[in-house]
Amino acid sequence: MSGQPNLMSTLKRTHMCGALREAHVGQDVVLMGWVQSNRRKGGVTFLVLRDRAGIVQVTLEENDDPAVFAAMDPLRPEWVVAVVGKVRSRGKDANPDLPTGAVEVVPTRVEVLNQARTPPFEVRDDVDTGEDKRLAHRFIDLRRPAIQRNLMMRSKMSSVARQTLVRHGFLELETPYLVKYTPGGARNFLVPCRLTPGTFYALAESPQIFKQLFMVSGFDRYFQIVKCFRDEDLRQDRQPEFTQIDLELSFADEDDVQQVMEDVVGSIFREVLGVELPERFPKMTYEEAMRRFGSDKPDLRFGMEHVGLNDLVAAHDGGGVAFFKQTLDEGGLIKAMRLPAEYALSRSDLDKLEKDVKAMGAGGLGRAKVGEDGAWSQSPFAKTISDALREAVNQACGAQPGDLLLFQMGKAKVVHTVMSHLRLTLGRKFEMIPEGAWKVLWVTEFPLFEHDEENGRYVAAHHPFTSPRAEDVDRLTSDPGACRARAYDLVLNGNEVAGGSVRIHDSAVQAKVFDALGISESEKQAKFGFLLDALSYGAPPHAGIAAGMDRLAMLVCGAQSLRDVIPFPKTQKGLDLMTGAPTAIDAGQLAEVYVASIEKPES
Ligand code: AMO
Repeated sequence: MSGQPNLMSTLKRTHMCGALREAHVGQDVVLMGWVQSNRRKGGVTFLVLRDRAGIVQVTLEENDDPAVFAAMDPLRPEWVVAVVGKVRSRGKDANPDLPTGAVEVVPTRVEVLNQARTPPFEVRDDVDTGEDKRLAHRFIDLRRPAIQRNLMMRSKMSSVARQTLVRHGFLELETPYLVKYTPGGARNFLVPCRLTPGTFYALAESPQIFKQLFMVSGFDRYFQIVKCFRDEDLRQDRQPEFTQIDLELSFADEDDVQQVMEDVVGSIFREVLGVELPERFPKMTYEEAMRRFGSDKPDLRFGMEHVGLNDLVAAHDGGGVAFFKQTLDEGGLIKAMRLPAEYALSRSDLDKLEKDVKAMGAGGLGRAKVGEDGAWSQSPFAKTISDALREAVNQACGAQPGDLLLFQMGKAKVVHTVMSHLRLTLGRKFEMIPEGAWKVLWVTEFPLFEHDEENGRYVAAHHPFTSPRAEDVDRLTSDPGACRARAYDLVLNGNEVAGGSVRIHDSAVQAKVFDALGISESEKQAKFGFLLDALSYGAPPHAGIAAGMDRLAMLVCGAQSLRDVIPFPKTQKGLDLMTGAPTAIDAGQLAEVYVASIEKPES
């Protein structure tokens, strides 16, 4: 009975299951889909049929056609069936919770297209099966309505992005995945090249260099919705292969790129979510973001801003607090944050926070409870701090009686990280973040270089093709730490969803940046010779950006993890639990690509 060979030629689907509405009442339909459930109640058979559009009820009364009953009776969940029938109203039995709930289909013919083994878990959104088991049977997991909805939304996002960019005159052009290995930036996956023994390709971490070359070649506006590969330590918002909406424009500056990206993101929000984002997105410099929020991707949906205390403490010559004074002397940073009295932290909450911040490198969790008269209690600073400094700090923080002040002091990097973590943790704990709010922000003027403490040298903060601001070109080598980049990140509700920059189009400036990065002449030629060459043959001024499609989809879909918006994702350890990748490769096969494997050293 199952899988009649020519059924797809003779029986044509007329409607999607989940699309039937009141307006279809009286129509003859042919549906095809999966059995969600099949039960009998008081002699009536209720078959629920599912496809990607949703579910619909197929109802067979006791006295209806016995042949149809005989065909329906054996149906089990996940069998694939075709139902021929007529739509009728459910009248007073309508189910208002279901989009198809006003109607049901009375079957006149039921065909089994394929049987199914009993699945390892039920196809339901509230299934309590662990994620590993679901990922191992991803093809079944992907049948769940929530994930189908996510992937349909993602598909719409891609098509809206594409349409928007085409409207702006962008060409969709492809770039290679198998590329030359270049050091710096994210770690590359390597691919042995059988045809040239002992050599390797890298999998492209992004199309960066190629999209710049498209500009040199005169294509003017390029885009691609493209896979990128990075062998990084994975986190909730990182996958080893992920997708970018990648673009580049000639004869453009920061604002031109930002306007295009604002239209792409704005159109996605309008067409997929029905949400109107501001026409132009606000901007904040990196310096301001770090000062006020300790983060280069601040979540602006709530307050709890940081207050820098260095100037106050200096003006009061330490104000009697040895830790403060010492931090100033060592060139460190002192920051405070006010937790309003309405948000009470218990002793154990505080202990847990302290443990968390110590794990992040903090010395402890400095705090002070503000009393009626502004005096501090429950604080290591209370005894020695001068009245004048205490009053000045209270005022700077806007402290009210009952508030809790939280402090961090030490190396700027740790203080920012810890205070930013505290702000987000407390914001979430006390539900300060309003539901359904969207806050977009451009963060601009990033540092051009970061100091790599381990190796005692500067590395590119973004990538080495990012243009310095004109006023910084002359101090590229003399004071690299002070140089700012013409780079910008798009931040959405505290997530970095896109990043880009104006590029260097002058080979002399590009060579200077390589100098500042300590890349020697021969290294420069060996690694980036083709780019320097290209820049010297008439490169137009150009700029670009790439949006993280997976992160954007996660936010648009309201998903908790990138895995909920990627059809076949990897786990946190980079594993594909369904296919079992990665796998060991036997010595013979390795020899074919001239690679030998070594044992992983004991760590
Ligand atoms: P960048 O490295 O900032 O820029 O990447 C752009 C955006 O891609 C997303 N992203 C990721 N998403 C998931 N998993 C990852 N491992 C991952 N890494 C990055 C982020 C990020 O904002 N070539 C430049 C762009 C340019 O300058 O035009 C680039 O790749 O949302």
